[in-house]
Amino acid sequence: MLKGKRILLVISGGIAAYKSLELIRRLRERGASVRCAMTKAAEQFVTPLSVSSLSGEKVSTDIFSLTDEAEMGHIELSRDADLVVVAPATANILARMAQGLADDMATTLLLATDKPILVAPAMNVRMWLHPATQRNVEQLKQDGVAFVGPNDGEMACGEYGPGRMAEPLEIVAAIEAQFGKPLPKHLMLVQPPPAQSLKGRKVIVTSGPTHEPIDPVRYIANRSSGKQGHAIAAALAARGAEVILVTGPVSLPDPPGVKTIHVEAARDMFSACFLNLPADAAIFAAAVADWRVAVEASQKLKKTSDTPPTLRLAENPDILRAIATTDAKRRPTLVVGFAAETENVVAYAKKKLASKGCDWIVANHVGEGSDTFGGDSNRVHLVRQDGVEDWPRMSKAEVAAQLADRIAAFFSESAPVVKLTKPKISKGRS
Ligand code: PMT
Repeated sequence: MLKGKRILLVISGGIAAYKSLELIRRLRERGASVRCAMTKAAEQFVTPLSVSSLSGEKVSTDIFSLTDEAEMGHIELSRDADLVVVAPATANILARMAQGLADDMATTLLLATDKPILVAPAMNVRMWLHPATQRNVEQLKQDGVAFVGPNDGEMACGEYGPGRMAEPLEIVAAIEAQFGKPLPKHLMLVQPPPAQSLKGRKVIVTSGPTHEPIDPVRYIANRSSGKQGHAIAAALAARGAEVILVTGPVSLPDPPGVKTIHVEAARDMFSACFLNLPADAAIFAAAVADWRVAVEASQKLKKTSDTPPTLRLAENPDILRAIATTDAKRRPTLVVGFAAETENVVAYAKKKLASKGCDWIVANHVGEGSDTFGGDSNRVHLVRQDGVEDWPRMSKAEVAAQLADRIAAFFSESAPVVKLTKPKISKGRS
């Protein structure tokens, strides 16, 4: 797969730079050639001599070096590669990339290249979760930059949480994915498989829009892509749960390890959900149409008269409310609804929590410019009876992973009410 491929590896200055040495070895043993560029800070962690010895190539460090430029100019170097990989990518280099700065050899190459870029972030957990970094990550994703990691775990600084650079073999897998069939963007984070914390639990997840037929060719729909619901199904399955995904029409592949039921209209989704009870938990991420056309035309409506036809609407069944308020024998122990709001997000979500009879609401901002419907990231609040957690903007895969971890924590505690915990950014291993 990597035989004959030319990788330009940019090493920036983080403690994880030592892992880049192994990455070079792993790439070379697969037949790739690796040229490296290092930032000044990277030279504090690994020496250009070690990098050059392992890569078998000269290392580029100085944009103003006359010898480097004479041998191969930075523009040529940036174009000569098939793929540019930044590992480790510090908060600083992500910020400079997002800004389009070119103030050293590394960032100049990154700005000058016309090849795909894959980055493996590595930084302190608080730096990773900082809104500024998340903004930069979002910007880079919009610019088409692919990400691998970061992983959760204990960090060199003693803190615990997301921010560890992906392991060299995970980066190799992500590089191979760049040359083969690309991973779907919403599942782009390559993480080590999480513990089987939901083994033995059955969870129903709804996802995507519903299509409410007007006539045989027309329907009412919305802009849901299914990315959030599918990512949740994948995250639950990765934790060992038996997942039944009931999805409206989307153009995503079925998540691996998930039983996927494809439906069109709200009433089909309603039936599929009830047919799959009992379950331990049910997560309603679908954007179900509130209304359908009262009487579906059996033939295509013709544009004949002067006045356009009037569509009379009827209310669809509320799947979330029906399952949350069903008899105790069938009701899942944990029922999680979503709330898509354009204003007063938390206040409306609290009202929805009460009116729908569910246990948690994941409230997301869907106002103008939020890009939540159809986009790759989401900013949510987890609203529960005992409090609200405000999560920073994250990729939908990260929202899914956090939610799956909260669900696992819920089931691991004996009491049915979950203690409010902050996102995993505790000091040390607690
Ligand atoms: O699919 P993506 O492009 O990734 O976008 C994700 C999303 C924005 C669709 C998702 O995160 C989300 O917010 N889903 C719920 C959207 C919605 O319909 O919200 P609502 O506030 O209108 O409905 C509240 C809850 O009731 C939802 O859990 C919904 O699934 C449920 N509902 C609504 C109507 C109905 N007839 N039956 C239901 O079960």
